[in-house]
Amino acid sequence: MYLGIDLGTSAVKTVLVDGAQRVIASESRPLTTTSPLSGYFEQDPAQWIDATFATLDALKATHAGELAAVEGIGLSGQMHGATLLDASSRPLRPCILWNDGRSAAECRVLERRWPALRAISGNKAMPGFTAPKLLWIATHEPEIFAATKLVLLPKAYLRLVLSGEAIEDVSDASGSLWLDAARRDWSDAALAATGLSRDHVPRLVEGCAPATTLRGELARRWGMTGQPVIAGGAGDNPAGAVGIGAIRPGTAFVSLGTSGALLAPTSRIAANPDRAVHTFCHAIPDMWIQAGAILSAASCLAWIARLFGATEAELLAPLGLRPQAPSPVSFLPYLAGERTPHDDPAVRGMLNGLSHGTDRGSIVQAVLEGVAFALADCRDALADAGIAMTEADAIGGGSRSGFWLSVLANVLNVPVHRFAGGETGAAFGAARLGRLAVTGEAIAAVCTRPQRIETFEPDARLVDAYAERLPAWRELYRPRH
Ligand code: XUL
Repeated sequence: MYLGIDLGTSAVKTVLVDGAQRVIASESRPLTTTSPLSGYFEQDPAQWIDATFATLDALKATHAGELAAVEGIGLSGQMHGATLLDASSRPLRPCILWNDGRSAAECRVLERRWPALRAISGNKAMPGFTAPKLLWIATHEPEIFAATKLVLLPKAYLRLVLSGEAIEDVSDASGSLWLDAARRDWSDAALAATGLSRDHVPRLVEGCAPATTLRGELARRWGMTGQPVIAGGAGDNPAGAVGIGAIRPGTAFVSLGTSGALLAPTSRIAANPDRAVHTFCHAIPDMWIQAGAILSAASCLAWIARLFGATEAELLAPLGLRPQAPSPVSFLPYLAGERTPHDDPAVRGMLNGLSHGTDRGSIVQAVLEGVAFALADCRDALADAGIAMTEADAIGGGSRSGFWLSVLANVLNVPVHRFAGGETGAAFGAARLGRLAVTGEAIAAVCTRPQRIETFEPDARLVDAYAERLPAWRELYRPRH
């Protein structure tokens, strides 16, 4: 039996997976994000722990026998967040999250101080990544910077609480900007450029390697017979890749979580930092992931649902199964700024083309289309790095909507596939990493492709209609810097 724990942005999702890779049970607890200023996003690390413990306590109540038999645990997590710990391993302040845009000036400082940043990390310095946040802290909260003894990404903090050890996996670490992506090791020069050293970051392991074990007292709390192994785990995007068996080149996929991403596993680094393509180490050795990442995807649907005072299901149902034509309204999904391709934390969203005839359905459809157009921008940025996409698997909460996947298939002009359980992809991938860490089985034998339950084919008429709209949609973006 294996556990996968995904510390997401909107929730902690925990899945219990058996030896035949069936999800036996899953539990989820919501998380809240605070926004002290526009473009600032933070979470209290204590709620990650409470939410994770609540999912495990709930699994114990319903599946005590299965939970007792857990041998391996994999962790997946929202990437890039800066959790700053004092000498007693206590958080010094709320975690600054992946979508936080406050450190734009610090990104420019970092690139000046360390000109090899793009070549070594494979990334452009963008707000949201961890390193510029530390420069922001050094300038704006110097007493916190001085007290910082350890910087952890969110799931490494969770692992510290679960095991007592500070350990990071290389996939999540590559979202910090402190990693030498080719060597899969911390870069001393990168750390020095932010006033830090290796003493401030945890030891590194590969995602599928055993990292540590669950504390004895916690194993007893959840009725486990042994002390399960905790794997390196992965950032949520690489963990999602493991969950759908995207472990080889040519297996690009799209993630419609709170954020969105178009991700392509590669056997060598194919960076394109100038167009804000992300370079991550994969959660399996000797592989990398090139990604176009957008800051708001399913969160745009959640936003419009809040505005209309309706549930997402109530908004989606009247749209039907597939679009008939593009909406007359256009939407820029930059509610928290944007990374790929603009790297513009200051830009904000837009609804354009409203009229007296505009109804709720055309606005909702425009929101889904705006996210799909932003993913088309990611597709083009990846294509510039030589990465072509002929089909895409879809994961994340947004993949529950067939209408949205149909829009995507037509905007990207590729078939889009949906899986059973695709919305819990990262947690399932984490459970697979937990298993690999225990059994040492061949990666390809475990990371198979789950059964596709539906394929959304592009329709030539709609492909043309969306292709005609894309240039006008792109014109709506006006850089603010
Ligand atoms: C990826 C990114 C997000 C977070 C949150 O670069 O910032 O996908 O991992 O899910």
